[in-house]
Amino acid sequence: MAEVVIVESDAEAGEIAASAISALVRERPDAVLGLATGSTPLTTWRALAAAGTGLAAVRGFALDEYVGLPPGHPESYRAVITREVVEPLGLTPSLVRVPADDGGPISGAGERYEADIVAAGGIDLQILGIGRTGHIGFNEPGSSLASLTRVKTLAEQTRIDNARFFPSLDDVPTHCITQGLGTILRARHLVLLAFGSAKAAAVAAALEGPVSASTPGSVVQMHPRVTVIVDEAAGAQLEHADYYRYAWANRFDWERWS
Ligand code: F6R
Repeated sequence: MAEVVIVESDAEAGEIAASAISALVRERPDAVLGLATGSTPLTTWRALAAAGTGLAAVRGFALDEYVGLPPGHPESYRAVITREVVEPLGLTPSLVRVPADDGGPISGAGERYEADIVAAGGIDLQILGIGRTGHIGFNEPGSSLASLTRVKTLAEQTRIDNARFFPSLDDVPTHCITQGLGTILRARHLVLLAFGSAKAAAVAAALEGPVSASTPGSVVQMHPRVTVIVDEAAGAQLEHADYYRYAWANRFDWERWS
């Protein structure tokens, strides 16, 4: 089962996630990271920047990208990843990929992205957020548990949630290209973060509900190495919270990554 860590604050969560990344990169300087965008990973990037881990050789694959925004749009995930991850953390821009950024046609972009991930040796550590719909990446309810990178339609709830980044709801794209749930399952270590009470139901359904395409995040239950880091509010509906706290407090030294 997943290792679930319940912390006081998003800052503390970011430090734990950053320590997992730092430990990986110390061992393998050209490790392959899966990069989520959105608000959730921001404290992880901040903690990673503060740790001063050398990331110039690290390779990155973003989880998803909007379809339909003009090139260079500030809310495209290419722009967001450049602004929030590549520049502040000193990654090498040419080593960081975003779906459909290869200049080829959008049809077939998913297959090409999959091939590029495979050619890189696969993703070592995938950072994930979770949406209120239970999505990871932009795999909305109904996504195949075996899906690979492809174009998807965003759920209306997700467009509403992401409207905060755009002048109005009408400006939020209706489509995206996202790593699939099957792509995510191929990563060697999943680190899923969630903060705030708006995520509590999605977190509980993903970790403790049935594995189902109706809750795409529940696919993490099928992965052998998952670390879930939530604050108290996002973990408030977890039935086994006491057990998770106990297990984390009593983990063996060999289970620690820092
Ligand atoms: C972003 C992504 C999404 C977000 C999710 C949570 O690349 O794949 O799954 O992680 O929508 O978004 P925030 O973090 O903004 O609450």
